[in-house]
Amino acid sequence: MTIAICPGSFDPVTNGHLDIIQRAAEIFDEVIVAVGHNPGKTPFFTVEERITLIKQVIREARLTNVRVDRFHGLQVEYARAQKARVIVKGLRALSDFEYEFQMALTNKKLAPDIETIFMMTANEYSFLSSSMVKEIVFFGGNPDGLVPPAVVTALQKKLEKRGKING
Ligand code: PNS
Repeated sequence: MTIAICPGSFDPVTNGHLDIIQRAAEIFDEVIVAVGHNPGKTPFFTVEERITLIKQVIREARLTNVRVDRFHGLQVEYARAQKARVIVKGLRALSDFEYEFQMALTNKKLAPDIETIFMMTANEYSFLSSSMVKEIVFFGGNPDGLVPPAVVTALQKKLEKRGKING
């Protein structure tokens, strides 16, 4: 049984993430979507909110071999604790390469027994990022087709709460 983890901030989960998770679920016996903290980013949604959204999206996509979890510390340590041999990451054109390459090699040094596998993002999501989605909604735009409907609702609710839609 091969277990893979898909680590990320998922702030929030996008259709690009979902595409990678779906494709990973077709290859591996079990996929764990692992929500971590990126110290370089100020999160918009709490970890709990992100997990709730991902769980809903996974349920709606009927991905029965995917579960969602949070992790603290190093992703390779988390992978080991879960008996996962593979880390799956999505790779967008150009923008991700340097960061992901550096992270994959660092992880290989820390844990030679764990393999990082990259999947090219689907063409239609190659430009997509969680930050872009947040910006669209922040300025009152419509992110339909970029994120699952549950995420659109959650983004709008959160912004309304903060009193930031359209100014
Ligand atoms: O979606 P992101 O923001 O690229 O996700 C980054 C995340 C949280 C997956 C990454 O920062 C992470 O795993 N941090 C934990 C520390 C770690 O293992 N870093 C990689 C090797 S130094």
